[in-house]
Amino acid sequence: MPPHCDCEDYEPMSVPERVFEPTQPLPAAPVPPQPQSWAAAVTPPPAEPVSPVPPVQFRAGEHPTPAPTASAAPRLSGLEARSISAWFGDHKVLDRVSLDMPPGVITSLIGPSGCGKSTFLRILNRMHELVPSASLAGEVLLDGDDIYDRRHKLVDARKKIGMVFQKPNPFPAMSIYDNVVAGLSLTGVKVDRDHRDELVETSLTRAGLWNEVKDRLRQPGGGLSGGQQQRLCIARSLAVKPAILLMDEPCSALDPTSTRVIEETMLELRNEVTIVIVTHNMQQAQRVSQQCAFFLAAQGQPGVIVEHGDTDAMFSMPQDSRTNDYVTGRFG
Ligand SMILES: Nc1ncnc2c1ncn2[C@@H]1O[C@H](COP(=O)(O)OP(=O)(O)OP(=O)(O)O)[C@@H](O)[C@H]1O
Ligand SMILES: [Mg+2]
Repeated sequence: MPPHCDCEDYEPMSVPERVFEPTQPLPAAPVPPQPQSWAAAVTPPPAEPVSPVPPVQFRAGEHPTPAPTASAAPRLSGLEARSISAWFGDHKVLDRVSLDMPPGVITSLIGPSGCGKSTFLRILNRMHELVPSASLAGEVLLDGDDIYDRRHKLVDARKKIGMVFQKPNPFPAMSIYDNVVAGLSLTGVKVDRDHRDELVETSLTRAGLWNEVKDRLRQPGGGLSGGQQQRLCIARSLAVKPAILLMDEPCSALDPTSTRVIEETMLELRNEVTIVIVTHNMQQAQRVSQQCAFFLAAQGQPGVIVEHGDTDAMFSMPQDSRTNDYVTGRFG
């Protein structure tokens, strides 16, 4: 990693690969795992009592309408979190969270600060394990295959499941062109030189940035505006051709115009990649997402999903009074 890089989406070389250890003894709830190392920290879901929160998975036929896809379009992937619990040291921050994120559906994660949205998102592409004290239980299925299965390498999850952060984090001294292709070597994707120009143009076009930068591709990424930098980061993620794109408050540092451009980009990308977005902006959740999950952590308790479902229904007819209070701005 270049010394000037503050990218948090690329793993340092020293990060140990997490290995699923089905033979580990189950910790008795509510005592969290006491990790000695990452491998030791990983346990199957603890045998905990049935959650008071019903499992939040769509039943057959209840999925929001997926994006219309042309027959030639690549098959969209789906992600499913099953009974995810997470800890930092002995601090449990998520409790048996399950959520189906269907192909071609934009899922928004909403909820007050500190309820575990970012932690959940980072678990979806194996970034949680970068924190030395972190541990988790549960499964994350990408098209039915657990990304934490010991057969899979950590880098595979990063390749298939991209992440865009709250603060745009391009390599500032690197050219716009090189920023777009920076993720390739870091994730082991090989593209020969002849096809790189095409990939850069395609990725920048998909990120809605091509027209603004096509005449300055050799200028530094750090010279772009905040909104352009964020779209450059989206282009960098897209260049690796992920099946899933995770976005953690991608517009919170942006002005309304840049926000609108990113939202338009998301809606266009919906045909190509399945998106999960964390947002504190209720209007944004309603504008871009077809399904929504409301996270909440009671005082001193780990976060859970209180309610999930069709976004319009959640905002117009929430089933839980806490959801209603949150989406109407009574707290949070
Ligand atoms: N690296 C870390 N080490 C220890 N505790 C952490 C770490 N990251 C997050 N936490 C704790 O985990 C809990 C969930 O944090 P998280 O960042 O997932 O919340 P969030 O819902 O994304 O909040 P926000 O809306 O403010 O971004 C919080 O109690 C937080 O203090
Ligand atoms: Mg967060």
